[in-house]
Amino acid sequence: MLVLGIETSCDETGIALYDSVKGLLSHALFSQIELHSTYGGVVPELASRDHVQRVIPLLNDVLAQAGVDKKAIDGIAYTAGPGLIGALLVGASFARSLAWALDKPAIAVHHMEGHLLAPLLETPTPTFPFLALLVSGGHTQLYYVRNLGEYELLGESVDDAAGEAFDKTGKLMGLSYPGGPAIAAMAEHGNPERFQFPRPMTDRPGLDFSFSGLKTAVLNTLQHESISTAMLPDIAASFQAAVIDTLLIKCRRALTQTGAKQLVVAGGVSANKQLRAQLAAMAATMDVQVYYPRPAFCTDNGAMIAFAGCLRLQQGFSTDLPIVVKPKWAMGESL
Ligand code: KG4
Ligand code: ZN
Repeated sequence: MLVLGIETSCDETGIALYDSVKGLLSHALFSQIELHSTYGGVVPELASRDHVQRVIPLLNDVLAQAGVDKKAIDGIAYTAGPGLIGALLVGASFARSLAWALDKPAIAVHHMEGHLLAPLLETPTPTFPFLALLVSGGHTQLYYVRNLGEYELLGESVDDAAGEAFDKTGKLMGLSYPGGPAIAAMAEHGNPERFQFPRPMTDRPGLDFSFSGLKTAVLNTLQHESISTAMLPDIAASFQAAVIDTLLIKCRRALTQTGAKQLVVAGGVSANKQLRAQLAAMAATMDVQVYYPRPAFCTDNGAMIAFAGCLRLQQGFSTDLPIVVKPKWAMGESL
């Protein structure tokens, strides 16, 4: 089964072709980072307008790369939420129209299910059941994944997501958008022990997260008169250490609680090298295997949507003709 995947939920247009027998045939991405960087964050209307311009050239790109005609496509998967409504509507209407024109089924994919399944595109491949830590710009969640579509939410952020904390803190520090990669780069030259930022919600039981106070702690430090720009790398490193420590403490707790021996980590923040190094060290002490998507598939991409859509279509699911998108959508809740 050859499935076209279309991702337009935020500021990346991602298109890919996944074949259930041959694997991933091709993928193409256009990132709007430059477009939004002037504003220090994503401007929803600009995002939608840019997606409109990118979808057709990127589709032609992936077809040419794979050397297939669009008539060979057996199904079309698209992100139907969560995300920015205008951006979602571009991908959803494009996908639905193409599916209608080709007379092929279409399938609405949950963006976070795409992230969650992305590590299954790699080898070695995790096998069900596993624990999943999803860390993106909009979500920080721990799931116990029993099987495809059987996701038990164990904990999530009660306020800012981990990526959002990186982005907001980066903005406070005057760094370029998105803050995650910018803080990570600056932290390489900093001392993570110079500033003691809080590890929120780690001193009480449970698997929920809270990251908004961390950003305020950084703001208070930045406003202190003794702080100079030479100290910014130490602040970046100390902030990053606080986020990573918090994620690690909750992962260890969830692994112990579930007895899971496989941990899947996905979403934009899973590209963070320090997070990966420290998770590896922790996993080694617990006899746990950690799985990630390749760096290009940690952040938003079409491959994860094509893959998740293919698995769903193979299970016999498809989505009706009306174009429905959900800017807020809990995984497991019907569209
Ligand atoms: O998964 P993603 O592309 O989009 C959402 O679904 O939100 O994640 C984007 C987030 C941004 O907040 C970005 O700052 C963060 O991932 N990010 C990182 C790194 N690369 C991307 N955070 C920390 N370290 C990184 N290396
Ligand atoms: Zn994402």
